[in-house]
Order: sequence, then structure tokens, then C-alpha cells
Amino acid sequence: MKHSQRRAGVLVPALAITCLLSMPLAGLAQHHHGQPPKPTGPWMNTSLSADQRADLVMQQMTLDEKIALLHGVGMPTDEPVTPENAASNRGVGYVVGVPRLGIPGIDMSDAAYGVRSSGVNGRYSTALPANVAAAASWDIKAAYDYGALIGHELRAQGYNMSLGGGVDITREPRNGRTFEYLGEDPVLAGTMVAQLIQGTQSAHVIGDIKHYAFNDQESGRNSVNISIGERAARESDLLAFEIGVTEGHPAAVMCSYNRVNGDFSCENDYLLNQVLKKDWKFPGFVLSDWGGTHSTEKASAAGLDNEEPGHFWYGDKYKAAVQAGNISEAELNDHVHRILRSMFAAGVIDHPRQRSVIDPFKDLVVARKIEEEGIVLLKNERGALPLDAAQLRSIAVIGAHSDVGMISGGGSAQVDPPGGNAIMPPGGGATHWQEQIWFPTSPLKAIEARAPNATVKYDPGADPAAAAEAAKAADVAIVFAYQWESEGMDLPSLSLPNYKFEGREVDQNAVIAAVASANPHTIVVLETGSPVTMPWVKAPAAIVEAWYGGSDGANALGNVFFGTVNPSGKLPNTFPLSEADLPHPTVTQPPPASRHFDGAATPEQWAKGLPPFPVAYDEGVKVGYKWYDAEKKPVLFPFGFGLSYTTFGYSDLKVANEGKVTVSFTLANTGARAGAEVAEIYAALPASAQEPPKRLVGWSRVMLQPGEKKDVSVQINPKYLSIFDVQKNGWTLVPGQYTFMVGGSSQDLPLKESITLP
Ligand code: BGC
Repeated sequence: MKHSQRRAGVLVPALAITCLLSMPLAGLAQHHHGQPPKPTGPWMNTSLSADQRADLVMQQMTLDEKIALLHGVGMPTDEPVTPENAASNRGVGYVVGVPRLGIPGIDMSDAAYGVRSSGVNGRYSTALPANVAAAASWDIKAAYDYGALIGHELRAQGYNMSLGGGVDITREPRNGRTFEYLGEDPVLAGTMVAQLIQGTQSAHVIGDIKHYAFNDQESGRNSVNISIGERAARESDLLAFEIGVTEGHPAAVMCSYNRVNGDFSCENDYLLNQVLKKDWKFPGFVLSDWGGTHSTEKASAAGLDNEEPGHFWYGDKYKAAVQAGNISEAELNDHVHRILRSMFAAGVIDHPRQRSVIDPFKDLVVARKIEEEGIVLLKNERGALPLDAAQLRSIAVIGAHSDVGMISGGGSAQVDPPGGNAIMPPGGGATHWQEQIWFPTSPLKAIEARAPNATVKYDPGADPAAAAEAAKAADVAIVFAYQWESEGMDLPSLSLPNYKFEGREVDQNAVIAAVASANPHTIVVLETGSPVTMPWVKAPAAIVEAWYGGSDGANALGNVFFGTVNPSGKLPNTFPLSEADLPHPTVTQPPPASRHFDGAATPEQWAKGLPPFPVAYDEGVKVGYKWYDAEKKPVLFPFGFGLSYTTFGYSDLKVANEGKVTVSFTLANTGARAGAEVAEIYAALPASAQEPPKRLVGWSRVMLQPGEKKDVSVQINPKYLSIFDVQKNGWTLVPGQYTFMVGGSSQDLPLKESITLP
């Protein structure tokens, strides 16, 4: 069965695929191999604006050429070579461009944590740590570097558009795509994605932000109808997108599969026209998620510019609607203009796609450094970490295939593992949809290399008793556990899952508990995308959250274990005590008619959209820590939490209002090691604002030598202190008393000062 048809959520209607060939296209002959021709024409005058240049092209375009820009020609990765996709780079999407006028095609690849589909194309891609790990760094430079690596590798492979930039906030931590997103806070997630997009687009690659909006669960994602009030929407999920769009300036936004307050996102006038294009002044284009378009006239009027991956709705049907006068010339031209102007603005026309060699050595260092900054030290008692290589005589390394590899996140984000798949499928090469892929980055080897005086023994961790034996015999036990997640599914729970090893059911919680009770110097390492519950939390001396570590995750971990790197990551998501504490104790599942997994729907039903089922986001703005704060629920590890091998002192808070609020304080490294601290600033709004107890309004990541002190000053964006006033359709500052709190986690805020804002 073909990949595209197997992908539950993407299930591009067979009809759409057969219709792909129906579009007549002007001059198909672009380059296939080598570099593309240089475009010529009056629009190549770079002293004109992107908008002016787009209009010059548009004046020369036929109706067919315009329509051809409004849709893709299928998924070249999975499909045979056709005249339409022949010039493509064989990624997941391709728009033919305007070959007659020298306007290149738009060649798209998924690129969440690295460039996808490299295996099937015989190419190399670096896997960065999962996006959630980058968020855990709270380092805006790391986010930029993350995007820049993706941009350069896309360009080197011959692509000119990235499908990355996932920024749906973690409202539902069991969402199978939590690893692809940037955490639960809109200011953190939005700020980080803006940097990521800027990095990507610095390589003259079109960047995109997705999945707009409220694609916060994968269960029934193609049919679910999310309901949420406007103010809560604007202050939560939409704020992350607002920051991403207005600060990152992505050339494109991908609308999501789900419905929001009744309409599919890709035909949702409120989301696309009112908010994105009007309020945020987004000048770029909106493309649908793969198979997420469900109409022609309605979607076009609502602001969808481009259908992907095929042209069920935006091909012949669109042309007929224009010819019949049901879609105006002006509306058509607006869509075309947005696509062309974005191509000029992103530089894909002035700097044509140019294949080159990826520098895997340099990029591996970037990936490792981001992982080193993203690793979060959750617990560290009795100085369990860092390990002292000179003293250690024996180490037991246990579980989760830590002898050979580290797990990665699945779905359309999946990067094919350079070096082959460490566990399955054997033989390496291209990955398949929803297979668990283990990158061949071996924690065992990384530990051995750093502890030359120690005997390092591996135990697969399949049997709690055997694992305990191995742990008891060693100075230190390092036990690995994992939670795999993927697009197209949600996690059944936040518990570490059981897995099969050589026919045996492995209970990871039992293995950890057994190891920790056998050896007081036990270090637990988690490879997860989402928070996990920890019934054994009191037992081990140390707990390390490594996320999905990417191509060089093991060396990053090794550097943290042995103190070459002092951990500085902070949680971008709250770890709750139990699912019962979540706003929704269970993930609502679709009824049979609304399921995309059973394949019952006909292509026509698919295209038109499966019947809706309701999910109400009644918690509103109370996402993540805002929920636990407001509901006074204790948590396992709070948002913003993470330890270091040194300690930090906060003092001298000053809050000044000179037009904008500036928060200043002194941060000191009070320990014996150099380290970076993420100093977090929260604000409590006046009671009359009726907001949750506090919200993140800024932060600063500061590197300090032992004993060093620095004065830190952060200017607060007034929007982050405001509420969304639905009547005024804008952000408003509520007059009254604002309390600013500063510290190292959302629940450790030693500095506090209030001011009154007019
Ligand atoms: C995913 C998108 C992805 C697209 C193309 C969809 O199923 O939701 O994130 O970019 O497929 O692979």
C-alpha cells in the first residue's frame, strides 16, 4: 500500500490523486538535475518591493497559470514521476510555479526536526533533538540555529520550502505531536518559533508555521470540532501563532485539519481572514494541511490560498468557479499575489534552489549543542551527578536499547537516521510511517568513552530482577526509559509505556523501581516527547529528561553525565502528578463515523470532510501551569523547572514603568561551577482582569562563572501584560496592580514586586 494512503491523517483521497493529472500546464520543462535556470523579466528588478514584483509577474499570467499556483501536484515522494512532478525534488509537496516566466516551483519538504524523506531520495539529513528539547533550552539563539540548520540542509538537498514550525501549544500533553511543538506557554512557544522561522528563512527557504489552529489532539483530528471562547483563544493558542507570525515573518502558514467553532480551519473566515490576514497583517500565503481542504468557494472566500497536496478543490473546480463568476478575479488574484510575493520576500526567486553538500560534521555539533542546552535535570540528590570519571570503578547501563541508540519522534516529522536504524527496521534506509526509529547514537558507548577506569556493563532491562542484580553490582546504575510518540495518534496515558523485548513485556516503571531500590546511586534517563508520570519519583538519586536527543543525543548526555556540560534546560511543559489532574482526564475519541482510521469513508466523504464530533476547551486560557495554578493542583515538576550543577541567587528586583515596563534584578552564581540560568519573569494581573494567577512575560538566559554576578534587565512586551478585549477586538491593559515575580521556575520565584499601571 502506498505511503500516502497508509498515512491515517493525510489520507489524500484517491480521487484527488487521480485528478492530479487533469491540469494542463504551461511548459513543464524545468531543470531536473543540476541547478535551475536564472529567472529573467522586469520582476527581477530587486529595487522593487516583493508586492510590486509579484504584480508584475501576475500581469503576464494566464488563468491556467494562476490556478496552477493555487495547488500542489501530489506527493512526489510517494508517487511515480509524472510530467507535473518531474521537476520536483521528490518531497511531500510541489507547486509547479510559472515555468514560462521563469518562476520556479515551490518544492516542499517536511522539516520539523530535520529534513524528511532523505532516505528515499538517497540523501543525508541531520536529526536535531525534538522541537520540545529546543524549547527546553529557552535559548532564542538555539532556536534560530535550529531553524538555520534546517534551512541550509533543505537548500542543500534542493528544496525551497520548509514544512516545519509547529507551534500548537501543549493544551493536551497526550497529543502524539507534543515532541514537535514548543511547549504549553504561548509566549515561550511563539518567541521560539519566530526565531526558528527566521533561521530557516535566512537560507532563502520559505518557512511555514503550523498547524493553524487548535490541532491540539491527534485523535479524530480530521473531524473534531474544537469549541473555545474568543478571548481565551486569542490569549492562548492564537497568541503563540500571533508572536510567531509577527516576529518570525514566515512566508507561509499551514491551516490545520480540525474544525474550530464549527468550520474547518482551512475554510475558517475568522481564523484566516479576520485574525491572521487582517488583525496580524500577515502578507504571506495559507496552505492547507495535507488533505485538509474541504471546499472551493467557501475555502477561497475564507482565505485559503493553496490546496495541498493535490487539486481536488483548487484545480478544475476552482477554474470553473472563476469562469462562472462565483469566485471573483480579485479574490483569485489576492491568492496568487500572496504566493508570488512570498516567493520574492523569502528570496527563493533571487536565490534559486541550489543543491550542495551538507556538512554533517558541523551540523552534528549544532544538534548536539542544542540537546545539551535542552536536557533538563529534574532531580539530583547527594551530588549524584555529575559523575566523577576518576573515581568510578563500575557502571551499570540499563534498558531502553541504550546499548545501541536513542528513540526519535514519528510521523511526518520523522528524519531518516543517518547510520541506519539502530533497532528496526533492520537495514536502515528510508523509514516507514509510524515505525519506531532508533537513532544509532549509543549512550552505552558515550558512557564508556568518558569512564576509562570503569567497567561498564549493559543490561537490557527486560526483567526487573535481572536489572536490579546488574545495578547492585555497580557503583552507579543509569537506567533509561522511553515513551515513543507520533503524529496520527495520541498517547493512551502519561505513564511510561510497556514495550516488548525479545517476546517479553517490559514494564518500565517496575524496572526503574527495582533498579533504584537495588542501588542508591541510580540515575533515571527519560527519552520522551511528553511529560510522564513517575510513581517511583522518590527512589532514584537523579532524574534526567533527555527528550528525543537527535543524531548526537548520546554524546550530549555523556557530556552532561560527566560534567563537561552543566545542564541548564527548563521544562516547557508541566509534568502533572496524574492524568486525573489534566483539564480533560481522558482524550475524547471520535465516534466511528468520524474516524479516519477505519477507512470506511469514501473519497468524496473524505474530501467533503468527515462528520464532526465536539471537544470543548472549557479550560479556556488555563493551559498548562495556568490550569494547575488556578485549580491549586500540586504537580510533579512545574513548568520552567530544571536544576543545575551550580546554584543561583536572585536579588535586587526593580520594576520600572517608563512607557514600557522594565524588570531588573541581579543574578549570581553562588556555586562552584560555571553554568547558565534561565531567569523567568511572571506577572499577576489585577484581579479585575480575571486571569489565571500568573503568566510568563519574559525571561533571560544568563551564563555565569562561579561567584559571578550580573545585572539583568528585561523589557516586557505590553501585549504580554494585556488581555484580549473582544468588544474592541484588540489587546488592552487593565488598569491596576501588577505583581512581577522572578526566579528559576514557575514555582520558585523568590523576587516579587508590585506596581500600579494606569
Ligand atoms: C501533517 C503536516 C505535514 C503534512 C505533509 C500532514 O499529515 O499534519 O504536519 O506537513 O502531512 O507531510
